[in-house]
Amino acid sequence: MSQRRILVTSALPYANGHIHIGHLVEYIQTDIWVRFQRLRGHRCVYICADDTHGTAIMIRARQEGRSEEQVIADMHAAHVRDFAGFHIEFDNYGSTHSEENRQLCAEIWQALCRAGLVVQREVSQLYDPVAGTFLADRFVRGTCPRCGAADQFGDSCDRCGSTYSPSELVGARSTLSGATPEVRAAPHFFIQTEQLHDFLAEWTQSAGHLHEDVAHWVAAAFLSQPLRDWDVSRPAPYFGFEIPDAPGHYWYVWFDAPIGYIASTLQWCRRSGEPFDLWWRHPETEIHHFIGKDITYFHTLFWPVMLKVAGFNLPRQVHIHGFLTVGGEKMSKSKGTFVLASTYLKHLDPAWLRYYYASKLTPKLDDLDLNLEEFVAKVNGDLVGKVVNLASRTARFVQGGTLSAAYPEDGGLFSQAAAEGDAIADAYEACDYNRAMRLIMALADRANRYVESREPWTLARDPSRAGELQDVCTVALNLFRQIALYLAPVLPTLQKQTAELLAAPLQRWEEAQRPLLGTAVAPFKHMLGRADIKHVLAMIEESREQPAAASPLAQGYGSTRQAGSVASSADSFAPRDDSSAGLAESAAPHVDRAAPLAAEPLEAEISFEDFSRIDLRVARVIAAEDVPDSKKLLRLSLSLGGDVHRTVFAGIKGVYEPASLVGRLVIYAANLAPRQMRFGTSQGMVLAAGPGGKDIYLLSPDPGAQPGQRVH
Ligand code: MSP
Ligand code: ZN
Repeated sequence: MSQRRILVTSALPYANGHIHIGHLVEYIQTDIWVRFQRLRGHRCVYICADDTHGTAIMIRARQEGRSEEQVIADMHAAHVRDFAGFHIEFDNYGSTHSEENRQLCAEIWQALCRAGLVVQREVSQLYDPVAGTFLADRFVRGTCPRCGAADQFGDSCDRCGSTYSPSELVGARSTLSGATPEVRAAPHFFIQTEQLHDFLAEWTQSAGHLHEDVAHWVAAAFLSQPLRDWDVSRPAPYFGFEIPDAPGHYWYVWFDAPIGYIASTLQWCRRSGEPFDLWWRHPETEIHHFIGKDITYFHTLFWPVMLKVAGFNLPRQVHIHGFLTVGGEKMSKSKGTFVLASTYLKHLDPAWLRYYYASKLTPKLDDLDLNLEEFVAKVNGDLVGKVVNLASRTARFVQGGTLSAAYPEDGGLFSQAAAEGDAIADAYEACDYNRAMRLIMALADRANRYVESREPWTLARDPSRAGELQDVCTVALNLFRQIALYLAPVLPTLQKQTAELLAAPLQRWEEAQRPLLGTAVAPFKHMLGRADIKHVLAMIEESREQPAAASPLAQGYGSTRQAGSVASSADSFAPRDDSSAGLAESAAPHVDRAAPLAAEPLEAEISFEDFSRIDLRVARVIAAEDVPDSKKLLRLSLSLGGDVHRTVFAGIKGVYEPASLVGRLVIYAANLAPRQMRFGTSQGMVLAAGPGGKDIYLLSPDPGAQPGQRVH
């Protein structure tokens, strides 16, 4: 296979907040992919940077009485430290507040101007006359114009979920000063992306650049109509780069942020003597961006336009992941599930989270859930019980000695595992780490069965069987080594430990193809500890924040909202994780209440035959609509695979946004007699937990399940 040249990026984290376990989904996912590519022998460079500009940083600096430069320098150091703690290794970790970035922004800006894509228009925005600044939507609070809920943010209502413009808020106040905002007009620069409509239609829809679900979404949501102009400037005061020849105007943070990918690469090129054009202007270089689904819009519409117009490489692929939930809910400060990277590291081993996320990640956009009990069970069952155990139970019988000189008969285990290498590699390549982990654990299961059947501990008691013992350990340790190699992208520490134990490097994927023979075995050293739910709960406890008093001033500074949502303001297209702003009751995530069972006691026993008469299937929601005449019902169209579709009515209106259901998997009772309703016929039902009303939760299978599969 010829060597590929690959440039990989993760989204640039905002400099106004610390790294948390939600972010880590992305950086761990990317780091695994990069390490995998290198193991395969490809040239792969991993670039990232802090995203430093915008109103939020400016406000924070003011509030702390420091310069913006000081604030972002401290956060840069903290981010670098947190990432290193999780073995996330960048080739360059830059900053968007760099000279390289300023120059590249100017260059791309000129290209856009020359192409005639930049226009100027007046924009009316809320202005805080006391703080002397225009207000991003998140810095305005007031009463919801739709439902009348008090103390809502400027762009959307927490109670009724409606979105609006901040000037519609009733009794609006600035959270910076408490002043009543005024509407002021100021000129802004816009990029007319519509002129590149055809290019975008072609780029987003051609094979491989985007996951097909994303391609469909972009086509349906944006490309089916003329593209709106993109507002890329902000009037002073603003922390960012002033636009050349436009004094008092700054590039909006989302203009210079993605250019930070290029600027950070340029820094790396200068430091390591690499030709820059080889990485950003060479047709054979593959650029892969990893991002969360909330920033899809920027990366699939604006960014390709900027690159195209300025003559840079377009991304080969934008890999998009879903959001982290903890215990099935948004991360929440009051529940202690908004866990910072640094807090995690005080209590738990980073390898555990790397493995757990790997076991959950698929190429799809589905959110992934961190379930604390499952986390402990997987770490202990898989990593300790299946993988490390393989080495610890056998290495001690041969340590200080060597592996057998000829490979013993093993019933084909080694060659089977060697043959699996391609399938595992394909899964990593496709970001289907869930599948890769399942394949690897299946190998570990087989290897453990081998050890159990050969009982090295029994052989060790009989000196006359020393040769046999050495053979059994030789097989087990070679199978272990294959597994450690396949896991190396996820567990770099285990990779190192294994190389030391068996005194042989572990750096190339092909090394799984041939067994080690006759080589020395070092004394076995502890590799990876067991997870203990006590430590997990201690981490949650330390992360728990008392609900903040509902003072608008306290909330405006992002102390109760996730800081990131502040700067993304008007242009964020999906809700971000946020703490529940002190609204939710602070039930611990792990202490289960007795009330549900008391309310609905367990049913009488039934036979297995009775149970299996119910035909439960996995189904995908392909359309969801409101039933206007019904208070409770949504109409769902389900796909069971191929062209088998069903329509059901589900009593989940007001609990689930119809649009948010499209694409997700549900469990469907398929052989229930159809029910005639006022609005149409319901063909079966989708399963949900909870007593009803607002307290209702749709069931879904773990990632990997396919529509049409039976639930047993
Ligand atoms: N600064 C922008 C990205 C600019 S890229 C040119 C930003 N920063 S962020 O700090 O809010 O998020 C960084 C990345 O982490 C994003 O891809 C985002 O989707 C991801 N995540 C943030 N919270 C997350 C979860 N709770 N779960 C999964 N990913 C999350 O967006
Ligand atoms: Zn409302």
